[in-house]
Amino acid sequence: MDPVRNPFAPGAGSQPPELAGRDDIVYDASIALQRVLIGRHDRSQILLGLRGTGKTVLLNKIEQLAEDHNHLTGFIEAPENNSLPNLLYPKLHQALRRMSAIESAKAHAHSALRALRGFASAFNISIGDFSISVDPETGTADSGNLAFDLGDLFLRVGETAKAGGIAWTLLIDEIQYLSETELSALIVAIHRANQRQLPIMFFGAGLPQIAALTGEAKSYAERLFTYPAVGALDQTSARIAVQKPIESEGESIAPAALELIVERTQGYPFFLQEWGFQAWNMAMQSPISRQDVEEASKAALRRLDEGFFRVRFDRLTRKERDYVFAMAALGKGPYRSSDVAEHLGESTQSLGPCRAKLIHKGMIYSPAYGDIAFTVPMFEDYLLRM
Ligand SMILES: Nc1ncnc2c1ncn2[C@@H]1O[C@H](COP(=O)(O)OP(=O)(O)OP(=O)(O)O)[C@@H](O)[C@H]1O
Ligand SMILES: [Mg+2]
Repeated sequence: MDPVRNPFAPGAGSQPPELAGRDDIVYDASIALQRVLIGRHDRSQILLGLRGTGKTVLLNKIEQLAEDHNHLTGFIEAPENNSLPNLLYPKLHQALRRMSAIESAKAHAHSALRALRGFASAFNISIGDFSISVDPETGTADSGNLAFDLGDLFLRVGETAKAGGIAWTLLIDEIQYLSETELSALIVAIHRANQRQLPIMFFGAGLPQIAALTGEAKSYAERLFTYPAVGALDQTSARIAVQKPIESEGESIAPAALELIVERTQGYPFFLQEWGFQAWNMAMQSPISRQDVEEASKAALRRLDEGFFRVRFDRLTRKERDYVFAMAALGKGPYRSSDVAEHLGESTQSLGPCRAKLIHKGMIYSPAYGDIAFTVPMFEDYLLRM
């Protein structure tokens, strides 16, 4: 059918034509944002899920909701190597500049900008285009201890937002790349602001493997955050994700064809988009048939093998590749680290560093002690196809 009208959107962070199966997460976020704006307490959230399950799409949606509810927002994607203070600085600067335009928040914004200036020098932040023309406030947010300083800063930002009758929401994608110190500092700082009922919220998203927290950050994180699981869609939602966009274009899909897509993709959002996309292009006319989907499956797998799977595999060293092949050879995950070692004829200890690097790269994670699994759905099938 006409490829120009193809509604499907396979791609990292691409807005799907139908955001299926996420009503609860979106609803909870919307309520929390509105509560915080009026000074009620609600919990910040960390969305956890495998690759391609729709975490980035949800964070974008939540950012949109936040803006609709009178929050200023700062969206950050944590890269593998940049520090949190460097990433936060321009976002805080921008938010404070915008708040300073609100008459009732002017004085607070000025004082918060002074604290931000102190923070920038304490953490050697390269401020580039975002220099601040106020003197730093000595003794605020400039101790060099990230948890303290971020806490000071968030209090100032929160007070400014409150004075302006608005709220501030920070969103961070790929939080598994934050160090333990950074994530802890963030959690403690959010907690301090929330304790004073200041209108600040945090939404994070990342792989199930996030930094193992310790001490006070751990206890706050357990009590004060929720961790919505962003997984494969259930069968009903998976059907809707494919069927609705097709029908919105005035076309249709045969029930047997739809079932085959749900089966082949196991309801994983990225795969649903890819299969929907290929099935649409493959079909000559409505309704899309089961035979069309059979053909489309080949094209979809080829595209995934050359893209989604391949880019992940290409980042691995030789030794890491041996390790993941050994995992795949054992069948479906999760796997015991000791079984992988045995398969490779090595000791679990000697493979420890390799396993740790694979976790650090976000290729595998540990769902339970001693267990490992791929962060990319169906990665083992890909390796076996290779
Ligand atoms: N609820 C949904 N229904 C249908 N399709 C969805 C849904 N959520 C996401 N998608 C689609 O899935 C794909 C992956 O989404 P996204 O990039 O947000 O995943 P992710 O979890 O952030 O992945 P990664 O861990 O690789 O960053 C996109 O093509 C998107 O359009
Ligand atoms: Mg993402």
